[in-house]
Amino acid sequence: MLGRIKHFFNIMVIKKIARKFYVLFAFKKITTMEVTTQRVSSSASLSDCNLGQNISIGDRCYLYKVAIGDFTYLSKDVTVMNTIIGKFCSIAQGVLISGGNHPSKTFVSTSPVFFSQGKQCGVTFSDGKYFREMGNTKIGNDVWIGANAVVKDDINVGDGAIIGAGAIVTKDVAPYSIVIGNPAKVIRYRFELEEIDFLLRFRWWEKGEEWLKANYKDFHNIDSFKKKYG
Ligand SMILES: CC(C)(COP(=O)(O)OP(=O)(O)OC[C@H]1O[C@@H](n2cnc3c(N)ncnc32)[C@H](O)[C@@H]1OP(=O)(O)O)[C@@H](O)C(=O)NCCC(=O)NCCS
Repeated sequence: MLGRIKHFFNIMVIKKIARKFYVLFAFKKITTMEVTTQRVSSSASLSDCNLGQNISIGDRCYLYKVAIGDFTYLSKDVTVMNTIIGKFCSIAQGVLISGGNHPSKTFVSTSPVFFSQGKQCGVTFSDGKYFREMGNTKIGNDVWIGANAVVKDDINVGDGAIIGAGAIVTKDVAPYSIVIGNPAKVIRYRFELEEIDFLLRFRWWEKGEEWLKANYKDFHNIDSFKKKYG
């Protein structure tokens, strides 16, 4: 009799454990679903950021005061500061955007100990802020930035632009232009002028997810896209 009771209790305990596992598993499933819309690597460092939906931030990224639009992703080792990034941007590994400034004119030294209270080297001699160290950069929608490119502070990158791998961007980048080199220069535009004009007016990146999902194949050819929606 005692053996039967023991057996019964063992089954109850096993059932209880199984139920706990089930709840854990179900909970895990829910959290996984939730985080897939904002995938941020555990080795990334983010401070004062505003993240959209369906975004991804890779390993060792460093973001300070950055707003990121929906469907944008940052690969690994990307550093961005004081920047607004639009939707559907693809930012490759090693990119630096709006990394800050040191004085190159008038000031005797470039070291922030003389003009900043940021204590970059642990100390400062300065009682205030005597130099504008950070700019405000804006990256449009559907921008592709190639590996190891540098975008300087206070730059405006237009919608649909492409910045080639290793480019150093020192001036504003026109919408739908492709820039490469150091300093970055336009090599060509992605589309004809009237196509660019149409895309900038159409602003497909503001469409809802359902519309984008239903019509994704239209995105494979600019001619038919313009014919259909232009
Ligand atoms: C900028 C880029 C998009 C241009 O692509 P493309 O329009 O197909 O251009 P092409 O390959 O036909 O190159 C055109 C010319 O520019 C040169 N060029 C291309 N990319 C360059 C770059 N990043 N830097 C310097 N020169 C470049 C080519 O050598 C070629 O020169 P040529 O006319 O004297 O022969 C592409 O080369 C690039 O840099 N992509 C980024 C790749 C990357 O970083 N991937 C990481 C993960 S997404």
